[in-house]
Amino acid sequence: MSVRDDIKTVLISEEQIRTRSEELGKQITEDYAREGKAPYAVALLRGSVPFLADIIKYIDLDIQYDFMDVTSYAGTRTTGDIKILKDLDTSVVGKDILLVEDIVDSGFTIEAVKKLLFRKEAASVKVVTLLDKPSRRKVDVTPEYVGFEIEDLFVVGYGMDYNQHYRCLPYIAVLKDEIYE
Ligand code: IMP
Ligand code: MG
Repeated sequence: MSVRDDIKTVLISEEQIRTRSEELGKQITEDYAREGKAPYAVALLRGSVPFLADIIKYIDLDIQYDFMDVTSYAGTRTTGDIKILKDLDTSVVGKDILLVEDIVDSGFTIEAVKKLLFRKEAASVKVVTLLDKPSRRKVDVTPEYVGFEIEDLFVVGYGMDYNQHYRCLPYIAVLKDEIYE
C-alpha cells in the first residue's frame, strides 16, 4: 500500500516547486546582495527541511543555516509565547536572519519566532515560506517571500504532515476526505 493512495488532488507539482524556489532564491540573492549582506537561515523543524534544501541551492551568497523546533500556544496564550523544543545551536547576534517556514497559517509561529530572534539580538529578520494561507491569519504578520498563496485547505507533502505522515511526498497535496476523519 502506498501513501499516494490517500491523495485526493495534487495542488502544487514538484516542477512548480522547483521553478518557484529558483525564482525566490534569485530574488533573495539580489535583495541581500544589494545591501552587501548574506542571510543566516533559521529553518523551523521539521516541515521546512525539503524547502530549505531547495532554496539554498538558488541563493548565490555565503548563506549559513541552523534549525529550531517550536510549538506555538496559538489561541490559548498571548501571542509571542512559544515553547522551544529545540533551540538554535549558534548565536544570531548581529545576523540578518532569513526565517524558513513550510506554511504560514494563523501567523502565531512566525510572529513569536521573530520576536524571539530580535530578543536574541538578530540585526534583521525576513521570512520565506513555501506556502501562505492569508485568509487564516490571526495576527498581523506578512512573510517577505512567499512561494504560493493557497486557499484555506489542509495540505500535506514536501515536508508538511498530517499526524507526522506524508512529509516525504515530492509535491503538495490534499488528502481524501475520509483520511482527515
Ligand atoms: P501558524 O502558527 O498557525 O502560522 O502555524 C504554522 C504551522 O502550522 C506550520 O508551520 C505547520 O507546521 C502547521 N500547518 C498549518 N497549516 C498546515 C497545513 O495545511 N498542513 C500541514 N501543516 C500545517
Ligand atoms: Mg511548521
